[in-house]
Amino acid sequence: MAAQRTAGGGGTGPVNGKGVLLAAALCAVILTVTGVLVAVLPEPEQEGHRLPALARSHGIDLGVAVAVDPLDRDRRYRGLVEDHYTSVTAENTMKWEHVQPERGEYDWSGPDAVVDFAADNGLGVRGHTMLWHNQQPAWLAEGDWDAEELSAVVHEHVTTVMERYRGRIGAWDVINEPLEDGGPQMRRNLWYEVLGPDYIARTLYSAHAADPDAALYINEFGIESAGPKADALYDLVAGLVERGVPVHGVGFQSHFVHGNVPDDLAEQMRRYTDLGLEVAVSELDVRVDAPVTDEDLREQRQEYHDVLAACLEVEGCVNVTVWGVTDAHSWIPEWFPGTDAALPFDTAYRPKPALSGMVDALSRRGRRPGPARGARPRPPGAAP
Ligand code: G3I
Repeated sequence: MAAQRTAGGGGTGPVNGKGVLLAAALCAVILTVTGVLVAVLPEPEQEGHRLPALARSHGIDLGVAVAVDPLDRDRRYRGLVEDHYTSVTAENTMKWEHVQPERGEYDWSGPDAVVDFAADNGLGVRGHTMLWHNQQPAWLAEGDWDAEELSAVVHEHVTTVMERYRGRIGAWDVINEPLEDGGPQMRRNLWYEVLGPDYIARTLYSAHAADPDAALYINEFGIESAGPKADALYDLVAGLVERGVPVHGVGFQSHFVHGNVPDDLAEQMRRYTDLGLEVAVSELDVRVDAPVTDEDLREQRQEYHDVLAACLEVEGCVNVTVWGVTDAHSWIPEWFPGTDAALPFDTAYRPKPALSGMVDALSRRGRRPGPARGARPRPPGAAP
């Protein structure tokens, strides 16, 4: 049997002809030409177009972090999102410094753009993020707060934002990175210093009251593998569940280093699903030391595959989100100089082997009966 690739190329443009491309890519097309079977294999980007249908067939969302500016101006960027993903997370624009830059003055332009884009394209939205020690506006970070006033400010912010997007944002990272970078101690952030450790439960109650249907997450990094920080977050979350605090999910950020992707991610996730929570891979990337070689990218393909496979192993893992659309938009080169190439599309918007790795993982047989998209299991005893 002769195999040939379809002609044509690097286009990753908008959704025109999406149905045709999808159909072409669903499987190798077998043509009969004068009695000879010819398998026409899908182009990598066409293969990537299978991702939304594949993700949905497993009952999970495959998401991507988006920035407002390229979403607005860059047709190819938009096309990559529309063609390959089923949910979006706002990479920055829903953070406190952007949403409430001055006290009492909300800027909805960025969040609205993301939520409207998602609605226009049938994508889910993960809200990111309410309480975080980074990207706070100066009035908040530098304020001279007592507990009563800060508590009121938090309640108002959470309530205002969540009520505005009620019914349009399915899950929120309400608490982001509550543990110290190296763990296992609770992070001494503004909230902890002024309100004490119970700031977490109180904020979750505010969030639940504002949108009772949203899945409320605690989102953390460095918990993807066994260790003191993973245990500390587990103890924190298990304590909240035991008290009946409305927490519904744990986000495993998953900012991985090539060659060091943990092999016990599924095991760590299961600890939470055993509590009745859902879990998500919320900020996936796999950074590679420069100069990046073809071999690195082949290995990275397997690493992306393995992360998707870990999620599929765990009933209750509902979302895998990659942290940026292309390597040109990734936070990695700025924050980790000397590393690069962390995402499934390169700086020229071309698909990398990592994209095929995700397709492979999602193409496997024996699909689990995962929760339907939007299903939000509640922990036992959570407030109604
Ligand atoms: O706000 C300025 C803007 O005024 C200026 O014009 C622009 C010029 O470059 O920079 C803007 O700030 C950038 C900001 O993102 C945009 O809101 C910062 O330089 C940049 O460092 C900042 O980085 C973001 C980072 O969070 C901040 O901590 C990354 O894009 C974003 O990917 C990253 O995301 C976090 C998650 O929210 C939580 N988990 C960790 C993850 C990586 O740090």
